[in-house]
Amino acid sequence: MAEPKENVQMEKIVSLCKRRGFVFQSSEIYGGLNGFWDYGPLGAELKRNVKELWWHAMTRQRDDVAGLEATIIMSPQIWKASGHVDTFADLMRECPLTKKRVRADQVEPQSGIAFNYLGAIESFPNEPINIGSTVHAETNVIAKALEKYIAKESPSSLKDLSQSLKKFGQLNVDEELKNLFQGITGEQFDQAIQKAVKDAVPFLNAEKFTVLLPHGKPPESAQKTAIQFYQSSGLKNPILLGERSEKIENSTDFHPESGVKLNEPRPFNLMFKTHYGPIESEENIAYLRPETAQAIFAQFKNVLETSRQRVPFGIAQVGKAFRNEVTPRNFTFRSREFEQMELEFFIKPDEVIEAIHGSVFRPTPNSQLQSPEPNWGWQAWHQYWVEERVRFYEDIGLSRETLGFHHQTPAELAHYARACTDILFKFPFSKKDEHGNVVGDELEGIAARSDFDLSQHQRFSGKPMGVFDDELRAAWAKLPKEKSDELWKRYYDHRKNYLTKSAKPDETAEQISKQATEDANGLAKGQYIPHVIEPSAGVDRLILALIANAYSEVTETDEKGKSETRVTMKFHPRVAPIKVGVFPLLKNKPELVKKAQDVRDLLRPWMNVFYDETGSIGKRYARQDEAGTPFCVTIDFDTLGEKPELLDTVTIRYRDDGKQERLKISELLQFLLSKTR
Ligand code: GAP
Repeated sequence: MAEPKENVQMEKIVSLCKRRGFVFQSSEIYGGLNGFWDYGPLGAELKRNVKELWWHAMTRQRDDVAGLEATIIMSPQIWKASGHVDTFADLMRECPLTKKRVRADQVEPQSGIAFNYLGAIESFPNEPINIGSTVHAETNVIAKALEKYIAKESPSSLKDLSQSLKKFGQLNVDEELKNLFQGITGEQFDQAIQKAVKDAVPFLNAEKFTVLLPHGKPPESAQKTAIQFYQSSGLKNPILLGERSEKIENSTDFHPESGVKLNEPRPFNLMFKTHYGPIESEENIAYLRPETAQAIFAQFKNVLETSRQRVPFGIAQVGKAFRNEVTPRNFTFRSREFEQMELEFFIKPDEVIEAIHGSVFRPTPNSQLQSPEPNWGWQAWHQYWVEERVRFYEDIGLSRETLGFHHQTPAELAHYARACTDILFKFPFSKKDEHGNVVGDELEGIAARSDFDLSQHQRFSGKPMGVFDDELRAAWAKLPKEKSDELWKRYYDHRKNYLTKSAKPDETAEQISKQATEDANGLAKGQYIPHVIEPSAGVDRLILALIANAYSEVTETDEKGKSETRVTMKFHPRVAPIKVGVFPLLKNKPELVKKAQDVRDLLRPWMNVFYDETGSIGKRYARQDEAGTPFCVTIDFDTLGEKPELLDTVTIRYRDDGKQERLKISELLQFLLSKTR
């Protein structure tokens, strides 16, 4: 589990996760698989609790949200319509030596001395590599000629090269080669020269290579890396050509591990590809979904018709998503397989609200938006969902102080989006701003996505995605002409803008404006395509946030001066993997064991109980503290009636302050339910 060494807190968290069975590296016995993580016994319970709480808050506790559970593999047309096939890519750069890739925007600046090489030539005949000292005279002459030739990068030096090679009878460079380079310049020239030289001079590699050494490191180590590179591309005993060094300050051009200069950035699609059915052909390509959202849009009409919902309403889904991230990092924060909890909340366009209610309610940043109103437009709904989601995080133990917000700037927003607010959590690896305050990293994004998604699926599938609203039709008929003209024009402009931006190459301006006119005319008939607000959260990021938030250490020193650091995971009881530990005071007293097992069986149907009879009571408490169990119940002799007034009472111990009190067994279940739900 590789973490940056300097992040001590993260190292402790990663180690606890493995030691206590929260998170393991996937396929660990085979060396692990980068970007994939498994949840152990405690992690699985924690995750289940979080998903249940989200599902409960988003669907069962509301009248206006219905659930969905769709497949991971869907028609590839869905990903065409959503734009993922064409644009779901990160710019990445590759280390030409190790082939490791990094995201172009995530390379840390580095300084040092860069060693540039023009290429390498095979040492011959069978000459051993002898860096920094004399090489075989024959090789040296040819190497010099090649060096000159490559450095000049011009056809005029080809003759010299040809002659020097011929002189040694090593190669017959054809004069015709010269013609290859006539009229070619720049990058094309580079490529042509490399190809021609490769074909004509098989013992030469004219690829340039640069490696950065930190200040103070001997140049031999750059030569060693360069030799590795030229060996990996086919030369057995490369002699390096044209070494040149230069000072580099804060450059993001070098791979952070190998120090090798990265290849030029190129787009890298993040979707995992597979095939369905027995034939592996272009027609059978499918993708593992990179988000759960698109299934919701694709099933919008079915859910609308079967759930008897009306706009505004939402569809919620929890499930796996897959992204072939270029650089998975920060433990589970950026993984290649993860889970999302997404809500697509469909609302009426502002023009429709205005037609029905006369105006659209515009919230201020301080507006208290707890119960939705019919005159809310997209801004109020967006703000409402941001606040709802923050309330959810508070309810499971993440206080407002641990969170942050990022309001995407117009430059960051997708062209169809009107706003997007990211809710951030201040992770141990989160960076600080210029004032020294921790900024936080994204836990969830809440986007106002206009009617883009449904419109795209309507266009690609040919199936109507609009809804009919009789309130709109009735209201429209009563609007003064001036008002209906104004709303019509606004809706027309919006549709035309969308249609223009997502037009297929063969669509004409005339066709676009005809379609926009048809769409705007639909308002009078009570028809429109719903807009959407999308709160989209990552389960794994939330689990990591809850673990980081819960992690707490106390160092105690005993009478002999020996100090011990104990970890307590202070999870909110709602998410805690184990709700209560049940212990008989002694395991060799059958009456105590029997009573403790009765208590366990009483609680078990309602919550996750951990029964433990081994070790001292102190050790058992410590084990549960580390697992984050908020309550422990001990059955002792008083429970059995040693003191008659305490018959059928137990000791309950609170994890966070270690306080204990007695409680009647008959009141225990109710008490625990009130704390853990
Ligand atoms: N449908 C919108 C959507 O997928 P996103 O911002 O790409 O938006 C939503 O993803 C959430 O999914 C993020 O806020 C994050 O919590 C989670 N997520 C995205 N990529 C992830 C990854 N590689 N590993 C873990 N979680 C990820």
